[in-house]
Amino acid sequence: MSSATHTNSTTRIISPARSLRGSLMLPGDKSISHRYAMLAGFAKGTSRLANFSTGADPHSSLACMVALGAKTKRDGRTIEVAGTDGRFHQPKNDLDCGNSGSTMRMLAGLVAGQKGTYRFVGDESLTKRPMERIRKPLEQMGAHVWLTDGHAPMTIHGGELNAIDFEAPIASAQVKTAVLFAGLQAKGTTSFAEGIRTRDHTEHALKAFGADLVRREDRVYIGGGQHLEAIEATVPGDISSAAFFLCAALLFEDSNLVLDALGLNPTRASLLDAITTMGGHIKVLDVKEQHGEMIGTIQVNRNRSLKGITISGALSAQLIDELPVIAAIAPYTEEGVRIRDARELRVKESDRIALVVKNLRAMGAEVTEHDDGLDVPGNQKLHGAEIDSGSDHRIAMAFSIAALRAVGDTAIHGAEAASISFPEFFDWLDELAIR
Ligand code: S3P
Repeated sequence: MSSATHTNSTTRIISPARSLRGSLMLPGDKSISHRYAMLAGFAKGTSRLANFSTGADPHSSLACMVALGAKTKRDGRTIEVAGTDGRFHQPKNDLDCGNSGSTMRMLAGLVAGQKGTYRFVGDESLTKRPMERIRKPLEQMGAHVWLTDGHAPMTIHGGELNAIDFEAPIASAQVKTAVLFAGLQAKGTTSFAEGIRTRDHTEHALKAFGADLVRREDRVYIGGGQHLEAIEATVPGDISSAAFFLCAALLFEDSNLVLDALGLNPTRASLLDAITTMGGHIKVLDVKEQHGEMIGTIQVNRNRSLKGITISGALSAQLIDELPVIAAIAPYTEEGVRIRDARELRVKESDRIALVVKNLRAMGAEVTEHDDGLDVPGNQKLHGAEIDSGSDHRIAMAFSIAALRAVGDTAIHGAEAASISFPEFFDWLDELAIR
């Protein structure tokens, strides 16, 4: 593999492979790392977070916590965070969330309950992403939230909050987190109801840091005025990063992949069901639990031909981060892939439906675009092409996987975006791919 750099944009050339073999321990889950960083910064005492994500996004969360008064010390992948005991400092500068929607939306919930004025900024992509979804509940609770045409820059004037009962209008774990983080500091008991169950790392993390919170059916309740205590934790390996290698393993008959200490939280693990439906054989070993999060070792190979899949309804919300890579390998499946109810993909780090369609077509695939998804027929042959990552980490990585079965080399432009969630991706892919 070679790489070339032009004005901050790196191009990676991906050659076809014959198989994918090896064993790995993935860096810590991005979603859990964000939550641990924020709650450790809010708690009393010093938390020790091992296997913290190496991605740039959770480090944006850590940097914001430092700006708010937390202190951090880094020793390899272990981060120590000395918290603020529930009282943030007034930051001297804007809170820079970089590319991270999770940082901006979830941290908004914590600062909403703090006296002071906080201005959040982000990069060009984050500045286009919808923030209205958190403004509504936080203003109902008593915070003042100013947006710029529905987007960042966002200014929050926080203070005393009242509890609310909120019904989620869209499936979003980030909105749920913002409301629960604000509810933690409000007067009374706040509840959040979600029609579609989203990832529950916030609920587990809050309990780990000592908060009382209960779920009854589809509603989570949190009492206000609670104090948090520091924890020691090891962040489970990131299953959404694993998704790229799992999909790569599906492409070849004789692949064999072992992933150690992988996060297997049931609200994230629908991916493993999808991999099985598509012909993968998964063996799960050594499952244990830490702070409510399941961790285990999985071994994956392919025991049938690569099968197609239909993803819609609640499954689309649960697989939202994995849909780009599933769509990118769709042409190689026997029956093709149909994705619906995934309109949220259009407001991620890029319009992921449009970019998946554009890049599949560049590789010679037939694909039909829908407002909320796409249809990719099966049994197609792809050729190497020029891929536009749109500066989106998941697009850069998804098409690197599609490239493994294409005829000829593929150039991934804007490959540096992978470091947002998975800086090791290209090196590890090179080690696993048999050529
Ligand atoms: C995340 C929730 C999802 C997901 C994102 C991380 C989280 O976003 O796409 O990558 O950590 O809570 P939404 O809440 O917007 O669905």
